[in-house]
Amino acid sequence: MNLFRTKNITDMIAGTEKHGLKKTLGAVDLVLLGIGCVIGTGIFVLTGVAAANYAGPGIMISFVLSSIACAFAALAYAELSAMVPVAGSAYTFAYASLGEIVAFVVGWALICEYTIGAAAVAAGWSGYVVGLLKTAGIILPQVWTAVPADGGILNVPAIIIVVFLTYLLVLGTKESTTLNRILVFVKLACIAIFLFLAAPHVNTANWSPFLPFGWGGVTKGAAIVFFAYLGFDTVSTAAEECKNPNRDIPIGIIVSLIICTILYIAVAAVLTGVVPYSSLNNSEPVAFALRTLGLNFGSALVALGAICGITTVLLVMIYGQTRVFLAMARDGMISNKLVKIHSKYGTPHIITMITGAVICVMTGLLPINIIAELCNLGTLIAFSIVSIGVLVLRKRQPDIHRPFHCPAVGLIAPLAVIFCVYLMISLPLRTFFFCGIWYVIGMVVYFSYSRHHSALAEKPVNRCISQ
Ligand code: ALA
Repeated sequence: MNLFRTKNITDMIAGTEKHGLKKTLGAVDLVLLGIGCVIGTGIFVLTGVAAANYAGPGIMISFVLSSIACAFAALAYAELSAMVPVAGSAYTFAYASLGEIVAFVVGWALICEYTIGAAAVAAGWSGYVVGLLKTAGIILPQVWTAVPADGGILNVPAIIIVVFLTYLLVLGTKESTTLNRILVFVKLACIAIFLFLAAPHVNTANWSPFLPFGWGGVTKGAAIVFFAYLGFDTVSTAAEECKNPNRDIPIGIIVSLIICTILYIAVAAVLTGVVPYSSLNNSEPVAFALRTLGLNFGSALVALGAICGITTVLLVMIYGQTRVFLAMARDGMISNKLVKIHSKYGTPHIITMITGAVICVMTGLLPINIIAELCNLGTLIAFSIVSIGVLVLRKRQPDIHRPFHCPAVGLIAPLAVIFCVYLMISLPLRTFFFCGIWYVIGMVVYFSYSRHHSALAEKPVNRCISQ
């Protein structure tokens, strides 16, 4: 059995052409899409957590480092997503370029990104809801709003939002472009309000020492706040729907990354400027900072915006996860029974509910920093493999139609891998331990089930044949 058998790109594309998507998106749509999927728990929660625990005020530099890694990876990602515009994202690209077992590893990493990431996002949502209720005089008992590591029993609000969104997804609710646009403006307004209210209170003494944990702290911080950029890959996956992908995809990716980076650095600068960085290790640092300044109304307003913004990110993540499972089930990597489509709602209800249940357990019981780190490692693995895949396909299948070419691919793709690996090794050791367990389970699933049930197992091996 060939572990590196690949799927034929021409066949995959032919499969989608029957129901090709309309090409309606322009550069502005892509920038908004990017911002909509990106800004969430990362900026509203992890900035504070990472500043307090790892980087201090130097968290501003961490954001720059992380955004560079994302920009390189995104450009490589965009080439493959335009060339193989098929559901399943990085998993599908790896199947086309590097072979089945690598694809499985990527799929397993994406499960890590979406499921574990959703758990972290839900925890961020909960922090802001609890804080907002507190501002309104409603104090929820800590045992039911915090995970055991933070002195609680179960994070119930986080579980409630996951159950609610899972229910919506089972019924078939998808985010609409209009809703996304509205929420993008809510998020941006909420960040603008924070900056406007808090900036005049910056005390530069709070920025000193700037690097209390040294350069090592900055890179560790970068590896954590990488989470704040997750979701930008959604822009790459929209290539099939672009009017002019060669021009608009790089604009969409780069401009949304630049806007997010500027906002992130501004928020990080003001946040660490108005209160000592060491006080930011809490579940709603942005609202907390405003409250500390006595700006209770502003704090409530920002919290409300954060809650709306984080909700959409969460919805997209749970949705994305079910689509990765669908792609994997179609290829026989996981059981088809799991992705059975509901006769009335037309949604993969079983896998959606299983995904929701797993997210509930994680978000209810685990601390946000550990889940975010684990999610980042999974994503960095997926991005590195995709970047290698771009180079491999350029060499093995040079003539295949590429609607978008990654500029200076010989430089950008290796830089993407180098930056991703750099961020990976900056993550705490425990992350590798948890990730190791995750992959051992993955390999057991692959060798005991997937490779025997693979759709390619019945067909003649198609190993990197030129198209
Ligand atoms: N980038 C997304 C967030 O920060 C995952 O919530």
